[in-house]
Amino acid sequence: MTNAAHTLVTCAMERAILPQTFTSYAPSNIALSKYWGKRDKHRNLPLNSSLSISLADWGTKTTVAPSTDDRDRIWLNGAEVPCDDSFAVKALAFVRLFRANRQIPLHIKTENSLPTAAGLASSASGFAALTQALNGAFGLELSLPQQSMIARLGSGSACRSLWHGFVRWDRGIAEDGHDSLASPLDVIWPEFRIGVVAVDTGPKAQSSRNGMNHTAETSPLFQSWPEAAEADCAKIEASIIAHDFVHLGQLAEANALAMHATMMAARPSLSYLNAQSWAVLERLWRARQDGLQAYATMDAGANIKLLFLEASTEPLQEVFPDVQVIEPFGFCTQQTRV
Ligand code: PMV
Repeated sequence: MTNAAHTLVTCAMERAILPQTFTSYAPSNIALSKYWGKRDKHRNLPLNSSLSISLADWGTKTTVAPSTDDRDRIWLNGAEVPCDDSFAVKALAFVRLFRANRQIPLHIKTENSLPTAAGLASSASGFAALTQALNGAFGLELSLPQQSMIARLGSGSACRSLWHGFVRWDRGIAEDGHDSLASPLDVIWPEFRIGVVAVDTGPKAQSSRNGMNHTAETSPLFQSWPEAAEADCAKIEASIIAHDFVHLGQLAEANALAMHATMMAARPSLSYLNAQSWAVLERLWRARQDGLQAYATMDAGANIKLLFLEASTEPLQEVFPDVQVIEPFGFCTQQTRV
Protein backbone atom coordinates (compact mmCIF):
# COMPACT_ATOMS: atom_id res chain seq x y z
CA MET A 1 0.00 0.00 0.00
CA THR A 2 1.87 3.12 -1.15
CA ASN A 3 1.68 6.36 0.72
CA ALA A 4 2.96 9.23 -1.44
CA ALA A 5 3.95 11.42 1.53
CA HIS A 6 5.85 8.56 3.11
CA THR A 7 7.67 7.71 -0.11
CA LEU A 8 8.56 11.38 -0.57
CA VAL A 9 10.23 11.63 2.87
CA THR A 10 12.01 8.30 2.51
CA CYS A 11 13.49 9.29 -0.89
CA ALA A 12 14.41 12.77 0.34
CA MET A 13 16.20 11.29 3.38
CA GLU A 14 18.53 9.39 1.04
CA ARG A 15 20.15 12.73 0.25
CA ALA A 16 19.99 14.01 3.85
CA ILE A 17 23.00 15.75 5.32
CA LEU A 18 24.05 15.28 8.95
CA PRO A 19 21.50 17.32 10.89
CA GLN A 20 22.27 20.96 11.49
CA THR A 21 20.45 23.31 13.81
CA PHE A 22 17.47 24.82 12.01
CA THR A 23 14.61 26.98 13.29
CA SER A 24 11.30 27.49 11.59
CA TYR A 25 8.00 29.25 12.24
CA ALA A 26 4.49 28.31 11.09
CA PRO A 27 1.23 30.14 11.80
CA SER A 28 -1.81 28.40 13.23
CA ASN A 29 -4.92 28.43 11.06
CA ILE A 30 -8.70 28.45 11.41
CA ALA A 31 -10.84 26.69 8.83
CA LEU A 32 -13.55 28.79 7.20
CA SER A 33 -14.69 25.65 5.41
CA LYS A 34 -14.03 22.62 7.61
CA TYR A 35 -12.18 19.38 7.17
CA TRP A 36 -14.24 16.78 9.03
CA GLY A 37 -13.92 13.09 8.13
CA LYS A 38 -11.31 10.92 6.47
CA ARG A 39 -11.56 8.72 3.43
CA ASP A 40 -8.29 7.00 4.41
CA LYS A 41 -7.16 6.97 8.05
CA HIS A 42 -3.76 5.41 7.33
CA ARG A 43 -2.72 8.09 4.82
CA ASN A 44 -4.74 10.81 6.60
CA LEU A 45 -6.74 11.70 3.49
CA PRO A 46 -9.86 13.85 3.86
CA LEU A 47 -13.32 13.25 2.47
CA ASN A 48 -13.66 16.90 1.48
CA SER A 49 -11.53 19.90 0.60
CA SER A 50 -11.21 22.71 3.17
CA LEU A 51 -10.12 26.33 3.29
CA SER A 52 -8.52 28.28 6.11
CA ILE A 53 -7.07 31.60 7.15
CA SER A 54 -3.67 31.58 8.83
CA LEU A 55 -3.24 33.42 12.11
CA ALA A 56 -0.15 35.49 11.33
CA ASP A 57 2.07 35.69 14.42
CA TRP A 58 -0.11 33.27 16.41
CA GLY A 59 1.76 30.06 15.74
CA THR A 60 4.68 27.81 16.58
CA LYS A 61 8.45 28.23 16.40
CA THR A 62 10.42 24.99 16.36
CA THR A 63 14.15 24.33 16.44
CA VAL A 64 15.61 20.97 15.48
CA ALA A 65 19.23 20.43 16.48
CA PRO A 66 21.63 17.49 16.62
CA SER A 67 21.61 15.97 20.08
CA THR A 68 24.55 16.91 22.32
CA ASP A 69 23.96 13.97 24.69
CA ASP A 70 23.15 11.16 22.30
CA ARG A 71 19.41 11.01 23.03
CA ASP A 72 16.17 12.57 21.87
CA ARG A 73 14.94 15.42 24.04
CA ILE A 74 11.93 17.69 23.61
CA TRP A 75 11.06 21.07 25.14
CA LEU A 76 7.70 22.79 24.98
CA ASN A 77 7.53 26.48 25.85
CA GLY A 78 10.88 26.30 27.65
CA ALA A 79 10.15 23.23 29.80
CA GLU A 80 11.48 19.77 28.99
CA VAL A 81 8.71 17.24 28.27
CA PRO A 82 9.20 13.57 29.26
CA CYS A 83 9.53 11.35 26.18
CA ASP A 84 6.46 9.31 27.23
CA ASP A 85 4.24 12.41 27.40
CA SER A 86 1.57 12.37 24.67
CA PHE A 87 2.96 15.57 23.09
CA ALA A 88 6.45 14.03 22.86
CA VAL A 89 5.12 10.67 21.66
CA LYS A 90 3.29 12.33 18.73
CA ALA A 91 6.23 14.56 17.84
CA LEU A 92 8.74 11.69 17.95
CA ALA A 93 6.46 9.45 15.87
CA PHE A 94 6.48 12.20 13.25
CA VAL A 95 10.29 12.54 13.44
CA ARG A 96 10.51 8.79 12.89
CA LEU A 97 8.92 9.28 9.47
CA PHE A 98 12.08 11.15 8.54
CA ARG A 99 14.89 9.20 10.13
CA ALA A 100 13.22 5.74 10.10
CA ASN A 101 15.49 3.37 12.03
CA ARG A 102 18.63 5.48 11.69
CA GLN A 103 20.28 6.54 14.93
CA ILE A 104 20.13 10.33 14.64
CA PRO A 105 19.20 11.65 18.08
CA LEU A 106 17.77 15.17 18.05
CA HIS A 107 16.93 18.00 20.39
CA ILE A 108 13.59 19.62 19.52
CA LYS A 109 12.51 22.92 21.03
CA THR A 110 8.96 24.13 20.39
CA GLU A 111 7.47 27.44 21.44
CA ASN A 112 3.87 28.40 20.88
CA SER A 113 3.08 32.08 20.50
CA LEU A 114 -0.64 31.32 20.66
CA PRO A 115 -1.77 32.85 23.95
CA THR A 116 -2.65 29.85 26.13
CA ALA A 117 -5.69 31.80 27.36
CA ALA A 118 -7.06 31.76 23.80
CA GLY A 119 -7.58 27.99 24.03
CA LEU A 120 -6.59 27.39 20.43
CA ALA A 121 -5.15 24.09 19.28
CA SER A 122 -1.52 24.25 18.22
CA SER A 123 -1.24 20.94 16.38
CA ALA A 124 -1.60 22.57 12.94
CA SER A 125 1.19 25.09 13.46
CA GLY A 126 3.18 22.53 15.49
CA PHE A 127 3.39 19.88 12.77
CA ALA A 128 3.92 22.49 10.03
CA ALA A 129 6.81 24.09 11.95
CA LEU A 130 8.28 20.66 12.76
CA THR A 131 8.11 19.62 9.09
CA GLN A 132 9.89 22.81 8.02
CA ALA A 133 12.51 22.50 10.76
CA LEU A 134 13.25 18.84 9.86
CA ASN A 135 13.40 19.74 6.17
CA GLY A 136 15.94 22.48 6.99
CA ALA A 137 17.93 20.48 9.54
CA PHE A 138 18.44 17.57 7.13
CA GLY A 139 18.97 19.85 4.10
CA LEU A 140 16.19 18.11 2.16
CA GLU A 141 15.15 21.14 0.10
CA LEU A 142 11.58 19.94 -0.22
CA SER A 143 9.19 22.47 -1.76
CA LEU A 144 6.36 23.96 0.32
CA PRO A 145 3.72 21.85 -1.49
CA GLN A 146 5.80 18.74 -0.74
CA GLN A 147 6.13 19.79 2.91
CA SER A 148 2.36 20.38 3.01
CA MET A 149 1.77 16.78 1.94
CA ILE A 150 4.12 15.51 4.66
CA ALA A 151 2.73 17.80 7.41
CA ARG A 152 -0.70 16.33 6.60
CA LEU A 153 0.47 13.04 8.13
CA GLY A 154 1.02 14.75 11.50
CA SER A 155 -2.38 16.43 11.55
CA GLY A 156 -4.65 17.15 8.59
CA SER A 157 -5.04 20.85 9.27
CA ALA A 158 -1.22 21.20 9.50
CA CYS A 159 -0.98 20.94 5.71
CA ARG A 160 -2.64 24.39 5.54
CA SER A 161 -0.20 26.01 7.98
CA LEU A 162 2.73 26.18 5.56
CA TRP A 163 1.53 29.56 4.27
CA HIS A 164 0.09 32.84 5.52
CA GLY A 165 -3.24 34.18 4.29
CA PHE A 166 -6.04 32.10 2.81
CA VAL A 167 -5.05 28.48 2.10
CA ARG A 168 -7.05 25.73 0.40
CA TRP A 169 -6.46 22.04 1.01
CA ASP A 170 -7.54 20.10 -2.04
CA ARG A 171 -8.85 16.71 -0.98
CA GLY A 172 -7.31 15.10 -4.07
CA ILE A 173 -8.54 11.89 -5.64
CA ALA A 174 -5.43 9.69 -5.85
CA GLU A 175 -5.34 6.61 -3.67
CA ASP A 176 -1.74 7.21 -2.60
CA GLY A 177 -2.53 10.80 -1.52
CA HIS A 178 -0.01 12.56 -3.79
CA ASP A 179 -2.60 15.17 -4.79
CA SER A 180 -3.97 15.82 -1.29
CA LEU A 181 -2.14 18.96 -0.24
CA ALA A 182 -2.71 22.65 0.33
CA SER A 183 -1.92 25.75 -1.70
CA PRO A 184 -2.27 29.47 -0.91
CA LEU A 185 -4.96 31.62 -2.52
CA ASP A 186 -3.53 34.60 -4.33
CA VAL A 187 -5.70 37.01 -2.33
CA ILE A 188 -4.65 39.74 0.08
CA TRP A 189 -7.46 41.18 2.23
CA PRO A 190 -5.79 43.57 4.70
CA GLU A 191 -9.09 44.53 6.42
CA PHE A 192 -9.94 40.91 7.29
CA ARG A 193 -9.97 40.21 11.03
CA ILE A 194 -10.36 37.21 13.34
CA GLY A 195 -11.60 37.66 16.90
CA VAL A 196 -11.08 34.94 19.45
CA VAL A 197 -13.61 34.70 22.28
CA ALA A 198 -12.09 32.25 24.75
CA VAL A 199 -14.65 30.07 26.48
CA ASP A 200 -12.66 27.10 27.65
CA THR A 201 -8.88 27.06 27.74
CA GLY A 202 -8.36 23.56 29.11
CA PRO A 203 -7.48 20.48 27.04
CA LYS A 204 -10.37 19.19 24.93
CA ALA A 205 -12.29 16.15 26.11
CA GLN A 206 -11.94 14.33 22.80
CA SER A 207 -9.27 14.82 20.11
CA SER A 208 -10.48 16.01 16.70
CA ARG A 209 -9.13 12.76 15.24
CA ASN A 210 -11.35 10.64 17.52
CA GLY A 211 -14.27 13.05 17.19
CA MET A 212 -14.31 12.97 13.42
CA ASN A 213 -13.96 9.19 13.26
CA HIS A 214 -16.77 8.70 15.77
CA THR A 215 -19.00 11.13 13.82
CA ALA A 216 -18.28 9.50 10.46
CA GLU A 217 -18.96 6.04 11.88
CA THR A 218 -22.19 6.74 13.80
CA SER A 219 -23.90 9.99 12.74
CA PRO A 220 -26.80 9.64 10.28
CA LEU A 221 -26.34 13.34 9.43
CA PHE A 222 -22.77 12.68 8.30
CA GLN A 223 -23.93 11.08 5.06
CA SER A 224 -24.73 14.43 3.49
CA TRP A 225 -21.66 16.19 4.93
CA PRO A 226 -18.86 15.42 2.39
CA GLU A 227 -20.79 16.66 -0.65
CA ALA A 228 -22.21 19.71 1.14
CA ALA A 229 -18.77 20.56 2.58
CA GLU A 230 -17.11 20.29 -0.84
CA ALA A 231 -19.72 22.68 -2.27
CA ASP A 232 -19.26 25.09 0.68
CA CYS A 233 -15.51 25.08 0.09
CA ALA A 234 -15.93 26.13 -3.55
CA LYS A 235 -18.45 28.86 -2.64
CA ILE A 236 -16.28 30.16 0.19
CA GLU A 237 -13.29 30.35 -2.13
CA ALA A 238 -15.39 32.31 -4.67
CA SER A 239 -16.60 34.75 -1.99
CA ILE A 240 -13.00 35.34 -0.84
CA ILE A 241 -11.86 36.03 -4.40
CA ALA A 242 -14.81 38.44 -4.82
CA HIS A 243 -14.08 40.07 -1.41
CA ASP A 244 -17.77 39.45 -0.63
CA PHE A 245 -17.56 39.53 3.15
CA VAL A 246 -21.24 39.00 3.99
CA HIS A 247 -21.53 35.96 1.75
CA LEU A 248 -18.27 34.57 3.12
CA GLY A 249 -19.40 35.08 6.73
CA GLN A 250 -22.80 33.48 6.14
CA LEU A 251 -21.25 30.47 4.41
CA ALA A 252 -18.49 29.98 6.98
CA GLU A 253 -20.89 30.18 9.94
CA ALA A 254 -23.36 27.79 8.29
CA ASN A 255 -20.52 25.36 7.46
CA ALA A 256 -19.28 25.36 11.08
CA LEU A 257 -22.79 24.83 12.48
CA ALA A 258 -23.42 22.01 9.99
CA MET A 259 -20.20 20.30 11.13
CA HIS A 260 -21.28 20.59 14.78
CA ALA A 261 -24.74 19.28 13.86
CA THR A 262 -23.17 16.10 12.44
CA MET A 263 -21.41 15.56 15.77
CA MET A 264 -24.51 16.18 17.85
CA ALA A 265 -26.33 13.54 15.82
CA ALA A 266 -23.54 11.02 16.46
CA ARG A 267 -24.33 8.06 18.74
CA PRO A 268 -23.50 8.75 21.50
CA SER A 269 -23.77 12.45 20.82
CA LEU A 270 -20.62 14.56 20.75
CA SER A 271 -20.52 18.25 21.50
CA TYR A 272 -17.43 20.43 21.77
CA LEU A 273 -19.64 23.50 22.31
CA ASN A 274 -20.79 24.19 25.86
CA ALA A 275 -23.43 26.48 27.37
CA GLN A 276 -21.02 29.41 27.32
CA SER A 277 -20.27 28.87 23.61
CA TRP A 278 -23.98 29.01 22.83
CA ALA A 279 -24.33 32.15 24.96
CA VAL A 280 -21.58 33.80 22.88
CA LEU A 281 -23.32 32.74 19.66
CA GLU A 282 -26.65 34.12 20.86
CA ARG A 283 -25.00 37.40 21.80
CA LEU A 284 -23.49 37.54 18.30
CA TRP A 285 -26.80 36.79 16.59
CA ARG A 286 -28.58 39.50 18.62
CA ALA A 287 -25.83 42.02 17.80
CA ARG A 288 -26.08 41.08 14.13
CA GLN A 289 -29.80 41.88 14.17
CA ASP A 290 -28.75 45.30 15.48
CA GLY A 291 -26.41 45.76 12.52
CA LEU A 292 -23.04 44.26 13.60
CA GLN A 293 -21.34 42.63 10.61
CA ALA A 294 -19.65 39.65 12.21
CA TYR A 295 -19.95 35.88 11.86
CA ALA A 296 -18.75 32.92 13.89
CA THR A 297 -16.83 29.73 13.32
CA MET A 298 -16.02 26.96 15.80
CA ASP A 299 -13.64 24.02 15.60
CA ALA A 300 -13.31 20.93 17.79
CA GLY A 301 -13.41 23.01 20.96
CA ALA A 302 -15.68 25.36 22.88
CA ASN A 303 -14.08 28.64 21.81
CA ILE A 304 -15.75 30.95 19.32
CA LYS A 305 -13.84 32.67 16.54
CA LEU A 306 -15.42 35.76 15.00
CA LEU A 307 -14.94 36.88 11.42
CA PHE A 308 -15.24 40.60 10.72
CA LEU A 309 -13.69 43.50 8.87
CA GLU A 310 -11.53 46.24 10.36
CA ALA A 311 -14.37 48.80 10.31
CA SER A 312 -16.39 46.62 12.73
CA THR A 313 -13.60 46.34 15.33
CA GLU A 314 -14.95 48.94 17.79
CA PRO A 315 -18.62 47.90 17.72
CA LEU A 316 -17.50 44.29 18.06
CA GLN A 317 -15.31 45.09 21.07
CA GLU A 318 -18.33 46.74 22.71
CA VAL A 319 -20.28 43.49 22.45
CA PHE A 320 -17.28 41.26 23.28
CA PRO A 321 -14.93 43.27 25.54
CA ASP A 322 -12.54 40.31 26.03
CA VAL A 323 -12.16 39.48 22.33
CA GLN A 324 -8.56 39.01 21.13
CA VAL A 325 -8.14 40.44 17.65
CA ILE A 326 -5.82 38.93 15.02
CA GLU A 327 -4.83 40.69 11.81
CA PRO A 328 -4.11 37.81 9.42
CA PHE A 329 -2.47 40.07 6.83
CA GLY A 330 -0.65 42.31 9.32
CA PHE A 331 2.17 39.79 9.25
CA CYS A 332 2.33 39.44 5.46
CA THR A 333 2.81 43.14 4.89
CA GLN A 334 5.96 43.11 7.03
CA GLN A 335 7.38 39.81 5.80
CA THR A 336 7.82 38.19 2.45
CA ARG A 337 4.79 36.07 1.73
CA VAL A 338 5.82 32.49 1.02
O1 PMV B 1 -6.20 18.52 11.76
P1 PMV B 1 -7.00 17.91 12.82
O2 PMV B 1 -6.91 16.42 12.82
O3 PMV B 1 -6.68 18.52 14.18
O4 PMV B 1 -8.56 18.24 12.54
C1 PMV B 1 -9.03 19.57 12.39
C2 PMV B 1 -10.49 19.60 12.47
C3 PMV B 1 -11.13 20.98 12.54
O5 PMV B 1 -10.30 21.89 13.21
C4 PMV B 1 -12.44 20.86 13.31
C5 PMV B 1 -11.49 21.51 11.15
C6 PMV B 1 -10.35 22.04 10.31
O6 PMV B 1 -10.50 21.98 9.09
O7 PMV B 1 -9.36 22.55 10.85
